[in-house]
Amino acid sequence: MMHIGATPTGRPGRVSEQDREQLAGHPVRVGRVLALFRPHRGAVGAVMGIIALVALLGMAQPFLLREVVDRAIPRQDVPLLVGTVGAMVGITVVVQLLGVVQTWMAAAVGQRVMHGLRTSLFDHLQRQSLGFFTRTRGGEVQSRLVNDIASMQGVLTGTATSIASNVTTVAATVVAMVALSPRLSLLTLIVLPPAVIMTRRVALLRREITAERQRTMARLHGQVEDHLSVSGVRLAKTLGTAGRASARFADTSRDLIGLELRSQLAGRWRMATMQTLFAVIPAAIYLVAGLPATSGGMTIGTLIAFTTLQAGVFMPLMGLLNVSSQWVSSMALFSRIFEYLDLEPDVPEPADPARVDAHAARGLLEIEGVSVRYPGADRNAVHDVSVTVEPGRTVALVGHTGSGKSTLAHLASRLIDPTSGAVRVDGADVRDLRREDLSALVGVVSQESYLAHASIRENLLAARPDASDDDLWRALGVAQAADLVAGLPEGLDTVVGARGLRFSGGEVQRLAIARTLLRDPPILVLDEATSALDTRTERAVQAALGRLAAGRTTLVIAHRLSTIRDADEIVVMDGGRVVERGDHAALMALDGRYAALAARDRDPDPMPV
Ligand SMILES: Nc1ncnc2c1ncn2[C@@H]1O[C@H](COP(=O)(O)OP(=O)(O)O)[C@@H](O)[C@H]1O
Ligand SMILES: [Mg+2]
Repeated sequence: MMHIGATPTGRPGRVSEQDREQLAGHPVRVGRVLALFRPHRGAVGAVMGIIALVALLGMAQPFLLREVVDRAIPRQDVPLLVGTVGAMVGITVVVQLLGVVQTWMAAAVGQRVMHGLRTSLFDHLQRQSLGFFTRTRGGEVQSRLVNDIASMQGVLTGTATSIASNVTTVAATVVAMVALSPRLSLLTLIVLPPAVIMTRRVALLRREITAERQRTMARLHGQVEDHLSVSGVRLAKTLGTAGRASARFADTSRDLIGLELRSQLAGRWRMATMQTLFAVIPAAIYLVAGLPATSGGMTIGTLIAFTTLQAGVFMPLMGLLNVSSQWVSSMALFSRIFEYLDLEPDVPEPADPARVDAHAARGLLEIEGVSVRYPGADRNAVHDVSVTVEPGRTVALVGHTGSGKSTLAHLASRLIDPTSGAVRVDGADVRDLRREDLSALVGVVSQESYLAHASIRENLLAARPDASDDDLWRALGVAQAADLVAGLPEGLDTVVGARGLRFSGGEVQRLAIARTLLRDPPILVLDEATSALDTRTERAVQAALGRLAAGRTTLVIAHRLSTIRDADEIVVMDGGRVVERGDHAALMALDGRYAALAARDRDPDPMPV
């Protein structure tokens, strides 16, 4: 069987509900997709030209075949025979070579467009606020950036070119068929559509059964994981659920019997349908061509050429039936990516940034009448709070979990923006500062310090790219992490997380402190930096923090009140509001919330509820 310019067709499919919802929520203009290709117009035009040329060249084959059968062979015309056969071989070689060029060009365009989308998406997502990432389901961002863009390669080079090639092949074949024999073309018009539709039905059915079989398989895997893993077995034994689990497993396994059988049969049915059609359609053509009433004096060559054409149009025709579902799933892919590209950062960069010099900064931090309401919340997380930290001074925030301390800390480093009120650094509203400038002014050490998967050196240099090794060791020394790093197998070049190397919480904190020391910001925000540590480690880290904070404007959230006794001001928060403020002595004298917190801190409840 000769396939004429047919490229692999997409699998038969229906549009997924998820894709439909995506497109309803975020429709895509076709013009916007086309705009992605505008820089590659030339290459796209060339690919389309090749596809058309291949379809046309393919159409010459049946006519050459007719020449061979009707003239060259019966007349023993050697020159004609050699010429036509040579042309047949030559055309095939040219078509295949063009196919290679086409694939290469289409893939090159596809990769460039993907590269553009991937980098702009990465860039754009980096500018999103912390809030965006906490709101987005885990893995969703990574999946769009990596998987969706990878699937796009299939759309750009597979779907688009297969649609173009199927359309041109079908069109050219129809023209050639009519040119060969209008009579047989009419017959084909009658038998082919039902055959194609039937094949598609069977294929869709098979696909549905296969999908259900896969779901059941997954359920089976889940049950094995749930009941035959260490934690699963522990739970099953302690809950005494083993008997029920066996019954459920048997049910799933039994479901699988039927599905497997149906799936295998459906596959066989699909083969049977196709094979039957491939035999029946040419047979019908032979019948019509042979009966005196319908033959119309057709030559053998025409008949052979026609059956060849007809066999080659089947797959492209099947492929065209999938165009609409391919279209929707491709557009849904673009929609998911454009949706992210269209996000407005809710903590935007200033259009006209204020000028600041981190080295000349005095380090005055003013939080003035701020309220914060998180998206979707029904009350303010922080309500009308003002805190001023004079240059070089320390203000501590204390209060129960959820009282709004971290929210205030986030405002100073502009992880979030206030709903009302303002945060100023040296008199400049943080919203008017470029992110880069602000991060040089305000350093943060929080409970969740993060080290990138890179060497210690790279982690530290991220804070100050021009630091020398001496600078790094000095910072590590002050942070009490020099011995730790010196003891590592590769010292500063040790890669964080490599070969099972895991730093303890206290080690990560000391490295984070060293990093902030290198950054040398005039203002420091410390958010419960020692809360996840055990008492002994906490003391070491606390000492390092003390050295880091020396001489800097510091806003500190303490997890242990004893560490902030000496703060210039202590602000007691409750339910997002300031309920008391003053220095340690004054607040103790007041004998209110702070005194109560301090008492509990000294004498921790043995059984917290
Ligand atoms: N990203 C967020 N989205 C919605 N609500 C939040 C978010 N972060 C904190 N909150 C809520 O804001 C309030 C204050 O939280 P937070 O500032 O973290 O308190 P604290 O640091 O004092 O424990 C809490 O009620 C908390 O549930
Ligand atoms: Mg907190």
